Amino acid sequence: MLRRSTNSNDIRVNLDFRPDTNISTDKGIMSFIIHFYSNKGTKTLITLEQLPIVAIPSMNDTHLDETLIINRLETAAKDNNTEAVPEILKELLEHTATHFLVEEDMMEEALFPAFKTHKSEHDRHLHELKSVMKYFEEHKDTRAISAYVEGNLTPWTLHHADTMDRMLALFLEERATTV
Ligand SMILES: [Fe+2]
Repeated sequence: MLRRSTNSNDIRVNLDFRPDTNISTDKGIMSFIIHFYSNKGTKTLITLEQLPIVAIPSMNDTHLDETLIINRLETAAKDNNTEAVPEILKELLEHTATHFLVEEDMMEEALFPAFKTHKSEHDRHLHELKSVMKYFEEHKDTRAISAYVEGNLTPWTLHHADTMDRMLALFLEERATTV
């Protein structure tokens, strides 16, 4: 499970996040997330130090860009900005979809052994993001978005970069030096 720092000044999210606790986005679960992660009163932005650095620089650039979008989303949600939130969600979906396609092309080209597992995690994440967008369209609930960012999107993004993407980058780097 996700654990938060006990220091209230420390906005970092603990990375002890297990993908098998993935949050589905049906309304019951969304209520659960909202209950546990909303009304904290602080913006939980991702800091630069939290971003895992992997062996392929272009992947780091993409992760940084995506992090900045996530931080803008969190800020808009915490500010209850119902106009900005759907725009940023759309931008995030487009950026994420492109980001994943680029990674998947690299995996296919390099015959990366864990391609299927990695791609299925991408697909699951995109599906979840679309469900959250639909939920927001129906409910205009910025607390739900903030809860999603804090309880799922941020820890998932950092965890994915630190595990699956790190493995992929190492494989690509190794392959580049041996080909
Ligand atoms: Fe990935």
